Amino acid sequence: MEKILRGVLRAETQAIAIYTAEMFWIKNPTRRAALLKIREEEIEHQNGLAPFSPLIRISLKLDRISGLLLGTLLSALPWSVLCSVQSWAENEAAKIYAQAAKALRDHGGDLPLGLLEKLQAAERQEQEHSLFFQGPARKLY
Ligand SMILES: [Fe+2]
Ligand SMILES: [Fe+2]
Repeated sequence: MEKILRGVLRAETQAIAIYTAEMFWIKNPTRRAALLKIREEEIEHQNGLAPFSPLIRISLKLDRISGLLLGTLLSALPWSVLCSVQSWAENEAAKIYAQAAKALRDHGGDLPLGLLEKLQAAERQEQEHSLFFQGPARKLY
């Protein structure tokens, strides 16, 4: 279970860093507002899950750095391209949560109270993020 949570927390750390970098570079107020809202939801996901896995904080630094770099690279792309990459990444994040929830259920035994609900709520929210980015991404085609 520790391993599952670790994967999820690493993904969130990277996601938060990606949005942080994008908000640094992207000046359009409407886009910034959307990125800010999503970033806050990623922070909620991370804060919600961190108490279940208190020991991993230090090793997340690398995920943060790679996220900042990725976000900077993405910001250099046209908005519609950024959105299509982001829509894909958010969909992957939803899959990570779905797998984590499944692994926990299969694992059986006593689960920490509220953990499964947190994973499922985050999965739904990642799907919403993915859908949000699909709008602007579609203008690509
Ligand atoms: Fe998230
Ligand atoms: Fe997300």
